[in-house]
Amino acid sequence: MTKPRKRIIVQKPGGYSAFHIDDTPIADPQPGEVQVDVKACGINFADVAVRLGLYQAAKGAYPLCPGLEFAGVVKDAAMDTMSFKPGDHVFGASRFGAYATRVNCPAEHLWRLPATWDYIRGASFPVVYLTAYYALHQVGHLKKSDLVLVHSAAGGVGTALLHLLKINGNIGVGIVGRSEKSAPAKEAGATFVIDKGTQDLWKKAEEISPEGYDLILDANGLSTLRHSYNHLRPGGRLLIYGFASMFSNSGKKNLPKLIWYYLRTPRFNPFDLTGSNKTISGFNLIYLFENIELFHHIMADLLKWDSEGLIPPMPVTTFPFEDVVSAHQAIESGNSIGKLVLAM
Ligand SMILES: NC(=O)c1ccc[n+]([C@@H]2O[C@H](COP(=O)([O-])OP(=O)(O)OC[C@H]3O[C@@H](n4cnc5c(N)ncnc54)[C@H](OP(=O)(O)O)[C@@H]3O)[C@@H](O)[C@H]2O)c1
Repeated sequence: MTKPRKRIIVQKPGGYSAFHIDDTPIADPQPGEVQVDVKACGINFADVAVRLGLYQAAKGAYPLCPGLEFAGVVKDAAMDTMSFKPGDHVFGASRFGAYATRVNCPAEHLWRLPATWDYIRGASFPVVYLTAYYALHQVGHLKKSDLVLVHSAAGGVGTALLHLLKINGNIGVGIVGRSEKSAPAKEAGATFVIDKGTQDLWKKAEEISPEGYDLILDANGLSTLRHSYNHLRPGGRLLIYGFASMFSNSGKKNLPKLIWYYLRTPRFNPFDLTGSNKTISGFNLIYLFENIELFHHIMADLLKWDSEGLIPPMPVTTFPFEDVVSAHQAIESGNSIGKLVLAM
């Protein structure tokens, strides 16, 4: 039996006009799946790449409903799915499809919503904290003594990184692109904040630590990558997890800019890497969705820290479901602070 449901679909990659509302009903959940009445879904920078057709994992999948995370109420569950029942409040991660009023989601990608959370917090939690945890503790091999430089420190992932660094007791240096973001980055736990809109970023970074940094988290790409590498201490690790600076703020794909960007993106020299004892790693959470054990291991730690009051609330801006264009414009502007969420 089908049930009514609305989805935001990207018919064909493009600008804001690529979005369409689709009201094809949803089928019953398949074995292993739970059907959730979605109350809110998170917006991520990756969704912009999906809309523009620049996201590798979405290639060939259009028409596509974007969205990697949501929170809501269980409406139905397949017979073999014992862990959730109708009425349960849940949040989840989905490999696309969360921009919808109802989703069928594998039970193993769902968690019970903690009693102190609302749907907005549930929908804004999974992607940025799973990313931040995986970056610091799995790929970055974070040690308590590490001095850590975080780019885009007042954004979604940036704020989550600062929260987790504070929990671990690290000194975090947060870099922000505009003065309005300095206070939120400080609030999130940065020991020092560099406002690259008004300060000379790398001069300031050298003043704070003349010998460089143990761990640098860079999702800007071209605009900072070369300097990030140069500011590692011997033994330092550069973690690359995005390329935000390749996007134009016009809402459209700028092909000449993209080609120019690609050509100038640094290629690192293996002789220099070995000669200076530096490590470069990259990852994308989207390719880890099948690693259920990893997701549950990370989420167990995160939920424990949350229950101990160690993870402060993230600043969130909420948009109505129908106003997805404004939400994308906000994240593409580069001015947003914390997370953006669509509320149904
Ligand atoms: N690999 C993964 O698994 C993974 C998972 C989640 C997110 N990410 C990546 O992590 C980054 C942050 O994601 P998010 O969703 O939390 O977004 P966000 O940080 O809330 O927003 C993006 C930020 O990037 C900076 N930026 C630099 N150049 C930009 C440009 N040309 N246009 C717009 N913003 C620009 C801006 O901050 P400042 O100006 O303050 O620097 C902006 O606020 C993105 O690059 C995303 O793709 C990767």
